[in-house]
Amino acid sequence: MRFSGLVSALLAIIVLSPSLQSFPPAEAIRSSHLDAYLRFPSSDAPPHRFSFRRAPLFRNAADCAAADAGIGVCSPSLVHVAITLDFEYLRGSIAAVHSILQHSSCPESVFFHFLVSETDLESLVRASFPELKFKVYYFDPEIVRSMISTSVRQALEQPLNYARNYLADMLEPCVRRVIYLDSDLIVVDDIAKLWRTNLGSKTIGAPEYCHANFTKYFTPAFWSDERFSGAFRGRSPCYFNTGVMVMDLERWRSVGYTEVIERWMEIQKSDRIYELGSLPPFLLVFAGEVAPIEHRWNQHGLGGDNVRGSCRDLHPGPVSLLHWSGSGKPWFRLDSRKPCPLDTLWAPYDLYGHSR
Ligand SMILES: *[C@@H]1O[C@H](CO)[C@@H](O)[C@H](O)[C@H]1NC(C)=O
Repeated sequence: MRFSGLVSALLAIIVLSPSLQSFPPAEAIRSSHLDAYLRFPSSDAPPHRFSFRRAPLFRNAADCAAADAGIGVCSPSLVHVAITLDFEYLRGSIAAVHSILQHSSCPESVFFHFLVSETDLESLVRASFPELKFKVYYFDPEIVRSMISTSVRQALEQPLNYARNYLADMLEPCVRRVIYLDSDLIVVDDIAKLWRTNLGSKTIGAPEYCHANFTKYFTPAFWSDERFSGAFRGRSPCYFNTGVMVMDLERWRSVGYTEVIERWMEIQKSDRIYELGSLPPFLLVFAGEVAPIEHRWNQHGLGGDNVRGSCRDLHPGPVSLLHWSGSGKPWFRLDSRKPCPLDTLWAPYDLYGHSR
């Protein structure tokens, strides 16, 4: 009897422990796939080798629309941000969230949509951001595995890289616009400014790079076959980075762009029309049809080339977002005590490690 009483008491502690519960009731909504995994978190402490410090609480300024804990994902005053979470880039994702909250004048009005293919990550996020408004969506890697061709290069690629293709299908239908962000960046300006981007008649907005050599993103087989290269007829395609995008999900859904992207991925399996993985299908569908966004919102390439240990500098002009795209990541370089100069700008947002 004593023993079962103890077990009940322990269960009660686990069930009632605030960090294990979705915080405000409105956030209790979760992707149904995930419920099975997350119903019984194994312990109160963040699991695995990860430990993140708790971020300070960030509060809305007086002139923000009301964003109390009870408001749900469909509230029209929210800014929606989608980010992937996986163990490899978790430290980056947590730093990205931290940076967004710190520079927002209405941090409590930002709603995060986390895309995951692994379990146990929700409790880590909750431990760092106890009052964060968020929802976790399970992205089944099998959805894209059959569509990723099996070259060596692409075998190294994470299925989660493709999750951005499925945002319109995964997120609540009431979410009509979302900012998609990679996990290796920090935002140093108010995300609400990016949110208010005028997309005009376009479905996505992103900084464009028209001086980049667009030819190299596709194979000679692509350019020599009119069935494929004809896709760009009537457009002036420019490279854009898919790590920072403002997406009109309503328009995306009505046109059915997910299927259009999937059709190109099927063609890739038989005809090898490009070398990289998740980027070219986006270029195929949207390049030349992108609402331009100021370059300050994607100062990309800061990862540089880790093999040669090269450090990159910022592009000229103002900076609202720093993006460590490329093979080097600031957290690895800082840990190895060989940081690039700009990596020190990432460090203040890092929450990895135990409380000091
Ligand atoms: C662009 O890239 C293609 C393919 O790599 C190359 O053949 C072409 O010379 C490049 N063009 C310029 C202007 O650099």
